[in-house]
Amino acid sequence: MKKLFVKTYGCQMNAYDSAKMADLLAPLGYAATDAPDGADMMILNTCHIREKAAEKVYSELGRLRRLKREKSDMLIAVAGCVAQAEGAEIVARAPVVDMVVGPQSYHRLPEMIARAARRQGHALETDFPALEKFDALPAPGGGGVSRFLTVQEGCDKFCTFCVVPYTRGSELSRAPEAVLREARQLVDTGARELVLLGQNVNAYDGGGWSLAKLCDALAEIEGLERIRYTTSHPRDMADDLVAAHGGNPKLMPYLHLPVQSGSDAVLEAMNRQHKADDYRRLVDRIRAARPDIAMTSDFIVGFPGESDADFEATLRLVRDIGYATAFSFKYSKRPGTPASTMRKQVAEEVKTARLEALQKLLAAQQHGFDDGQIGKVLPVLFEKPGQQPGQVMGRTPYLQPVHVLGDAGLIGAVATVRIEKRTANSLHGVLA
Ligand code: 5AD
Ligand code: SF4
Repeated sequence: MKKLFVKTYGCQMNAYDSAKMADLLAPLGYAATDAPDGADMMILNTCHIREKAAEKVYSELGRLRRLKREKSDMLIAVAGCVAQAEGAEIVARAPVVDMVVGPQSYHRLPEMIARAARRQGHALETDFPALEKFDALPAPGGGGVSRFLTVQEGCDKFCTFCVVPYTRGSELSRAPEAVLREARQLVDTGARELVLLGQNVNAYDGGGWSLAKLCDALAEIEGLERIRYTTSHPRDMADDLVAAHGGNPKLMPYLHLPVQSGSDAVLEAMNRQHKADDYRRLVDRIRAARPDIAMTSDFIVGFPGESDADFEATLRLVRDIGYATAFSFKYSKRPGTPASTMRKQVAEEVKTARLEALQKLLAAQQHGFDDGQIGKVLPVLFEKPGQQPGQVMGRTPYLQPVHVLGDAGLIGAVATVRIEKRTANSLHGVLA
């Protein structure tokens, strides 16, 4: 057996793709390992969303150059969004790289490996051959209780700060039959929860099938307990999807719905195509359909032109909505995006101060939300053994990790748990 090490950066789509690449290379005799030492093949599955994420690739490649000196037949592949955006630059800057493969071309890895092994120079595959990839990738192997399933890729929204429409291409949805087939395979191999993935997943359009209809069809699969989806755009939150949150009991009451900013001026400059109040009204409607739904979001601070008043509007929106958790980032200039050349870029110190203030508010909301579960009895889906012996770890409907004393036989089952306390990042409880 040859050893394969896949290092994954960035979003859940990349995690899904990494698993798929490992499955794809298994028939070639590669077994996935969780450490780089002694690997025969190394894949860096990269992220281009912010500058820091992209820089990590080049510093990792510097380290790999030394590893490769000791093991000269090791193959190094750069995959993911940096590969897509900077493929030619990677080949030029890092000769240690044997192949560069964009997110739409993973199914070509076996032939690329064959070429690289014959030392026919660097291989570069960064076309967008549509949905061919999914059909060419193997069926899922055995694995965890909660699994990702990509149903949609790409984005047509063109938010002015974002590279995704360029790195992942335009919106494409997989056919519902293909999604349902993969879902059944996943459930047959142990999945009890499916997380439907897409850069803009609620724009899903499977030949007339909406995401709501897809979730309803998935809910029919026996053995599947929970359905989640991520990540969504407020503009694509269709009425039937809002209604599904009330009507589909397997759809979990947890929704990642990024708003980015609470200022209308900034939302406009970002090309988000809605106002802050549209978002407030939308959340009201979602909560009317499913009163206990937990909301989460992404925020960007220091977008070009963001004033103190604009930032205050973001804090106000956060207070109005009340988030279970949220991600927040300093605006990072991305080459080729409209915002990167906007005048009135915000000073780094200002970004730092705003990020700190926002994160403080979000952390307080998160702790408040987690503390709010104490004393409640919640259905928990158990995923794996806990950190301590005799413990099992599961998740609430709101995705909070919960540790309880219990038998490993609980893994894969939903059981009710009385929540007793919160530690830094998780909840603790007893079987009820
Ligand atoms: N700078 C900072 N954050 C960004 N994001 C996307 N592009 C940028 C950028 N240029 C954030 C957004 C998005 C999340 C995945 O990453 O908040 O929702
Ligand atoms: Fe990027 Fe906007 Fe598309 Fe999300 S909706 S992937 S932030 S362009």
